[in-house]
Parts: sequence; C-alpha cells; structure tokens
Amino acid sequence: MYKKVPIIPLAVIGIVVAAITAAQALLIDWLPPAQSEQAERTFGLLWFLFWLSAFFFVIVTSILIYAIWKWRASDDDLEDGPPTHGNTKLEIVWTAVPVIALITVAVYGYIVLERNEAVAADRVNVDVYAQQFNWTYGYPDAGIETGTLVVPVDRQVQLNLRARDVIHDFWVPQFGIKGDAVPGITHTIWINPTEEGTYPVVCAELCGVGHGVMRSEVKVVSEQEFQAFLTRSTARVKAETAAATAAAKLESAPGDEAAGKTIFEAKCSGCHAGLGTEAGGVGPQLKGTTLDTAGIRNVAKNGRGAMPGGLVSGTELADVVAYVESIK
Ligand code: CUA
Repeated sequence: MYKKVPIIPLAVIGIVVAAITAAQALLIDWLPPAQSEQAERTFGLLWFLFWLSAFFFVIVTSILIYAIWKWRASDDDLEDGPPTHGNTKLEIVWTAVPVIALITVAVYGYIVLERNEAVAADRVNVDVYAQQFNWTYGYPDAGIETGTLVVPVDRQVQLNLRARDVIHDFWVPQFGIKGDAVPGITHTIWINPTEEGTYPVVCAELCGVGHGVMRSEVKVVSEQEFQAFLTRSTARVKAETAAATAAAKLESAPGDEAAGKTIFEAKCSGCHAGLGTEAGGVGPQLKGTTLDTAGIRNVAKNGRGAMPGGLVSGTELADVVAYVESIK
C-alpha cells in the first residue's frame, strides 16, 4: 500500500484543475444581475452549490489524474494488480462527508424557499393573464388592465398567474423566479424587486408558433410613480367607460328618419341601390330585411362582410337606423 501522500504532485495537479474550474465560473456571465430579493437568495444558493461541488470535484479529479499517471501499466504488463482490502476509516469519511454536505444543502435550500415565499401584508396584487402570444396584467384592487407590468420597488408583488389557452411560463431572468401559467388554475409567485428599471418578461414554456415573440416588459418604479400610474390608469378607464356609455346612449336614442335618409344617400347609397329599397347594388337590398333594430344598428355601426364599420356613429347612426327601419 502507498504509505506516504505525494503532496507535491497532487498539489500541482490540484492547482491546475482548480484554476480551470474557477475560470469557467468566474469568466463567464452565467446569470443576469439579481434584481429581486428572491434572485439574490436563489443565485446565492446556486453559487454555494457550485463552489461546494467544485471543491469536491477538484479533490476527486486531482487524485484520479495522479493515479492514472502514477500507476499506468506498461504495454507488456498483462498481470492483474495486487489484491487490496477495504479501508474502514476511509469509507466512514467518504460516507459522512456527503451526508453532511447533503444536509447542509437541504437546510440552506429550505431556508431560501421559506424566505422567498414569505407573504408580506402590504403586497401589491397583480393578475397575470397569459395567452397565445401576449401577456396582460390586471390590478384587481384598482380595476385596471395593462400590457406592461408596472410594480413598485422595495415592496412585495404577488403575481397570480393564469392562462387563457395553453400552458405558458412567466419569467423575468433578473427576478430569479419562474412560474407556470396553467389553464384552469391560479399559480401564485411572489417577487420583491430591489432595483428600479425595465426588465424583459419572457415566456419560458413552448406554447405555439409565436412562443419566441411572447415577450412583454416589467417596469419597476418608485412607490410615488406607482401610485401615479394607478391614479392615471384608473382615471383613463373611468373616462373610457363614460365615453362609451355616452356614445351608446346617443346611438340607441330614437333617430330622425328624414335626416337618416340624407345621411344614407351620402354614405350608403353608393352600394345599396334605390336608397336601400332595390336589389342589384354592391350591397344587399334592405327593404324586407329580417334584422331587428339592434341588428340593423350593429351592421350599420360595425359593418358586415365587404361593408366596413365606422361609416356612421353617434346621432348619425341613430338616424340611419331610423331610416332603414322605415323602409324595411
Ligand atoms: Cu407562451 Cu411560450
């Protein structure tokens, strides 16, 4: 048995192997900068795992390389090697060390998971909707929806991931967290952004032909800017709703038949022959239509087939509907 440990050759091989291993870890940008508390913890765990593995890799590989070189057989040596017996001490060591390493990694991993998923009371709630091939974000507490995710810095964001068709996966590399959006269930993830800025939202689950372009953005802003964003968006939604209600009111108010005839002549008679009373035009004859008032209003407003929508709106729409009603 080899009695003396060959310290110098082992040290030389060890230094070379360690340098190559460390260079790969240090010279390549493996990870984006961590810009959430979760990313800091997760990336920390990852590097801990890496260096722990690298430590044992260097020891094992160095001994292996030394053994291959030292005890290589010459070309004419056809003998078996001398028989050897086990080494109880060594076996205890190589069992105990991995057990300790495994327990350490398990405890560290548990702590990271526990902290990453600790829910804060003042968190911002956002509903994330994934759909082939875009993302939309709903703020249930403010009643708004956006195409860009806006969240405050230094405050927890709870993302409720939902899918409208197939499985997608919400991923912001800088946040260090990925979460599947699965049809039929809500999957929740928590993120505490630590740095203001704009980061990409990437779909990380192959979801169809547009998967590669299923991207969006997350803007991490100050608390003040975030509140301003909520106020602005809420005001916009209110204004849009009010405008839509007002327009619908105008459009469904009783129209003026005679005014409708004039508008029809100007805008519709090019296609509907005989002011809509005859067949043979590009558009169909309207006399004898089976559509009810709501149906006529819908076609006049939104178009149908070759007929474009948006030709008339507001009171004009009401007047045209009144005219068509009068001839049908
Ligand atoms: Cu959605 Cu890939």
